[in-house]
Amino acid sequence: METEARPASIRTAVQNWRRQGESVAFVPTMGNLHAGHYSLLTLARSRSDHVVASVFVNPTQFGPGEDYSRYPRTLDADCAGLAAHGCDLLFTPDVDTLYPYGVESTVKVHVPDLTGILEGAHRPGHFDGVTTVVCKLLSMLQPDVAVFGRKDYQQWRVIERMCRDLGLPVDILAGPIVRDTDGLALSSRNQYLDATARKIAPRLHESLQQAQTLVTQGHELASIEQVTNTRLAHAGFVVDYVAIRNASDLCRPSDNQRTALVVLAAARLGDTRLIDNLEIE
Ligand code: PAJ
Repeated sequence: METEARPASIRTAVQNWRRQGESVAFVPTMGNLHAGHYSLLTLARSRSDHVVASVFVNPTQFGPGEDYSRYPRTLDADCAGLAAHGCDLLFTPDVDTLYPYGVESTVKVHVPDLTGILEGAHRPGHFDGVTTVVCKLLSMLQPDVAVFGRKDYQQWRVIERMCRDLGLPVDILAGPIVRDTDGLALSSRNQYLDATARKIAPRLHESLQQAQTLVTQGHELASIEQVTNTRLAHAGFVVDYVAIRNASDLCRPSDNQRTALVVLAAARLGDTRLIDNLEIE
């Protein structure tokens, strides 16, 4: 696996492959990689001839007081893991490469509607940072396919919509959530949990499974959200939201809808904010 910080070199490699009729999948990350990220590499590998990944801790998607400066940076371990999971080329740009006019003066990509709710309501500006950087990465690298995780369900839907609305010639794929044996969705932020919080954390997934059961049993959606919220609070979480939404556009479903739903939650244990979701097919 080669590592490159300059976009021109990566783009040349991508163009050479595509000229030979070979497809290229791209997996953007912020590093500190775990089995959840690597599952996306495996998915990318299964769908294309070549896999390019990026590691870039994107400053514009972190709000004031969030963990940009303490976000774990583990490039050596990430390189070894990426090479072992079939990555051909790694893009590691610096901030000046992605933001040549500075982060304050950057062109911004804003997806309306979808970004004002759920995560967007609790993290103002977060999705603008995500769509801006993903748009820049896609236009620099020009892959056939880009792969995201359903762990960040709303992020995936926002990126899908950005690509469709801007007519970007890239297919967006989304891989399933990879979990620890006790159900906790893998996340770089799990390492911030102390022993007590780590024991409570799987209750988030458990509560979403209980919500899923209540949905399939036909209970009223608003009351399921309420019950799940209370359950999480009793377990020791400070709940940001529990929401049952349409899987595709994250709008509020009609009350008798029982399929194509997703239940999403964000909740904090101490300083650590966890998100999770469960699709109801
Ligand atoms: P990051 O948090 O590093 O995640 C990179 C990708 O890995 C995302 O698509 C995320 O949904 C996926 N992922 C993380 N944990 C996962 C898990 N347990 N199972 C499956 N997939 C998982 O998301 C970002 O970076 C950034 O916002 C980025 C898209 C790179 C833009 O900066």
